[in-house]
Amino acid sequence: MRVLLVGASGYLGGAIRPALDAAGHEVRPLSRPGADIVTGAGLAAALEGCEAVVHLAGALRGSGDFLEALHVRGTRNLVEASRAAGARRFVYVSAAGASPGGATAYQRTKARAEEAVRASDLEWTVLRPTVVFGPGGPGPNLVRQLGGVLRAAPVMPVFGDGRYLLQPVSSGNLAEGVVAALAAPARRTYDVGGPERLPYVEVLRRIAAALGRPFRPVPFPVPLARALTRLPGFPLGPEELTMLLAGNTCEAGAFFRDFGIRAERFEGR
Ligand SMILES: NC(=O)c1ccc[n+]([C@@H]2O[C@H](COP(=O)([O-])OP(=O)(O)OC[C@H]3O[C@@H](n4cnc5c(N)ncnc54)[C@H](OP(=O)(O)O)[C@@H]3O)[C@@H](O)[C@H]2O)c1
Repeated sequence: MRVLLVGASGYLGGAIRPALDAAGHEVRPLSRPGADIVTGAGLAAALEGCEAVVHLAGALRGSGDFLEALHVRGTRNLVEASRAAGARRFVYVSAAGASPGGATAYQRTKARAEEAVRASDLEWTVLRPTVVFGPGGPGPNLVRQLGGVLRAAPVMPVFGDGRYLLQPVSSGNLAEGVVAALAAPARRTYDVGGPERLPYVEVLRRIAAALGRPFRPVPFPVPLARALTRLPGFPLGPEELTMLLAGNTCEAGAFFRDFGIRAERFEGR
């Protein structure tokens, strides 16, 4: 199929594009300034001749208004433009924890974006990944960010008790899911997490081991971390810290079963 890959220049785009190529699809990458899902400019031209859309555009950080525009209005624009262009297959990569009553604007706006996809008559699949690890493009990658701190700092600050759980899923597994969902759209929403639920400190320990660095955790008080998230140079925004401390796990059995994918373990890179 000719597939419009929206968000091709980002981290997940860098992982998903080669998988689409390998599956024999003709990929048309979309990112700004060529087209913009928020304004809708350029979408009709970008979609011309496309049979499918993979929608990865999103942001983890930003004001409520910005996230509302990008996730909710942007996804509505893209759904409408896809329908108008006759691109029937639609895969949306949302996020685990998306919920209308979520604690952060990211989670609430992702939930409403999902709703716009589900309410359409397209042949849709929604995938909701937890933290993604592994090869990809240049965008925000938690494992790479944490690795940067572990490489540079003599000790590793750990927010609070470090026991909140993560369930990292590989970018390769997610890409396999996107390819499978395009082939057999399920009109279903799948949570996508890896095979293990790991305390944050264990995630850090594995990243340090993979880098060949000693792991020297030091507790970092949560209130201080919250205050620092307001500073521009701090690696996490306030909402990212909230989501990290709440943990991010899911039931991902259906994703691996339905799509016949073998779950890849997180080895620290
Ligand atoms: N990375 C993870 O661990 C993870 C986990 C769960 C869910 N997700 C979700 O997966 C999606 C992709 O994540 P990512 O890590 O690949 O993010 P990313 O690296 O920041 O990439 C975001 C992409 O969206 C595009 N984009 C932003 N605003 C746009 C607009 N108005 N119109 C068109 N394109 C626009 C960007 O393109 P330009 O800036 O070049 O225009 C870029 O290609 C996001 O929705 C994210 O919330 C990611």
